[in-house]
Amino acid sequence: MQKPFDFVIFGGAGDLALRKLIPAWYRAYREGQMPKGSRIFGTVRRTEQADGYREMVREAAYSYLRDDEIDNETWQEFEACIHGVFINITELDEHWESLAKTLNEGNEERVFYMATPPAVFSACCKNIHDAGMITPTSRVVVEKPLGYDAKSADSINADIAQYFEENAIFRIDHYLGKETVQNLLALRFTNCIFEHLWDSKSIDHVEISISETVGLETRAGFYDDAGALRDMVQNHLMQLLCLVAMEPPSKLNADSIRTEKLKVLDALRPLVGDDVAKNTVRGQYVAGEMGGKKVDGYLDELGKDSNTETFVAIRAHIDNWRWSNVPFYLRTGKRLKQRCAEIIIQYKTPTHHIYPDSAGAMIPNRLVIQLQPDERVQMIVTSNNLEKHDAELVPGVMDLGLTDRYEKFYSDAYKRLMLDAAANNPALFIHRNEVDAAWNWIDPIIEAWQRPENKPKPYESGSWGPKESEDLLRTDGSAWFNAG
Ligand code: BG6
Repeated sequence: MQKPFDFVIFGGAGDLALRKLIPAWYRAYREGQMPKGSRIFGTVRRTEQADGYREMVREAAYSYLRDDEIDNETWQEFEACIHGVFINITELDEHWESLAKTLNEGNEERVFYMATPPAVFSACCKNIHDAGMITPTSRVVVEKPLGYDAKSADSINADIAQYFEENAIFRIDHYLGKETVQNLLALRFTNCIFEHLWDSKSIDHVEISISETVGLETRAGFYDDAGALRDMVQNHLMQLLCLVAMEPPSKLNADSIRTEKLKVLDALRPLVGDDVAKNTVRGQYVAGEMGGKKVDGYLDELGKDSNTETFVAIRAHIDNWRWSNVPFYLRTGKRLKQRCAEIIIQYKTPTHHIYPDSAGAMIPNRLVIQLQPDERVQMIVTSNNLEKHDAELVPGVMDLGLTDRYEKFYSDAYKRLMLDAAANNPALFIHRNEVDAAWNWIDPIIEAWQRPENKPKPYESGSWGPKESEDLLRTDGSAWFNAG
């Protein structure tokens, strides 16, 4: 039975806390997954926010939760676990002392969640330490982006490491908490039919794509400094790539999984200098139409000139035995045609075609692992059109619709990951070495993008990105799965 814990959110009034963390804890509470006696503290920067913290989080949570999840009685019980605390994160004073006292009279199991900009991680960890809040079973959760490049990530990691051991540092990537991502491990490592067909002998290419319809939203300051490569590729896309490409871990635990993921990152072929222009496309959205409405371009939303990319497509290769010559196409972008996150495993077609040309071309098998909007796994197979006398090959779909099958279940990546952090299970969190390896692959791309010829290509909002992204696959005889 899991022990009760104290969960302290630094940045308790921020978007992440209000939109994701508190609603996720409510879901956990409602499902009976939060041990009795556990407490949640949200730190805020103004005293009136501390006084009205429960109202603030309730109002926010009610606007984010689904109607059928809201139950006033349960919320009231849950609310009793929540406490707003006034604190200046960077200044060790009597408010820190008072929080330390409250914690030290409470639960031994502690999670400190940095829902703050990385600039204050270091000061915050130091104050947690100096205020005497760290117990032997304390851990810290740090949100992405972890740094701006390899050097800054290293410095943040080194700062945190002064106060917390590596096994107490939980670097979160919420994509790893998505149910279908978890299911990818089950699919690969419990079904012989897939794992035996999971290499360059059978697979033609792999596509990992996260398309979003939203634009800059309210994050101009952060986003324009980061761009899509740092915001999405360095973490979410590279983690998905690792799970698709890694060797079977010997156990389902943090050490085994992280070791295998790291090997993939280490085997990624570096993209340096001229390789970058040949294998990457960066784009920036201009005005267009989304769902019948006109929307502004990135620069208009931002109100200034900028070379930041809102779209990235990359052709990557993993130089190891299993994946030799199999391209991995990564793509992400904002203001694209549809919100969708999926992994496509495209198989080779049989080497010998026994059907006449009149039956149509061979259709490659595709395993489609969709993370959103729905969670489903589909296998696209070829069958014969029964209505025709002469053979005609048509695609058919074998469908494992997880969203339909578990319709009452509301999948919430943050809930899963926070429960894991509270239970001290780091398997779905990222090791420092993975962060370093990912940045080491990304840094030369960023460097090459500084060249004037590598400016972002414009693409219309509501499209699938710049035409150069289509060309990237066309030169290999392929096409994005959903680009049609
Ligand atoms: C975040 C990025 O990590 O992931 C955002 O910072 C992005 O820019 C978001 O919108 C996408 O997450 P999801 O789960 O909505 O696909």
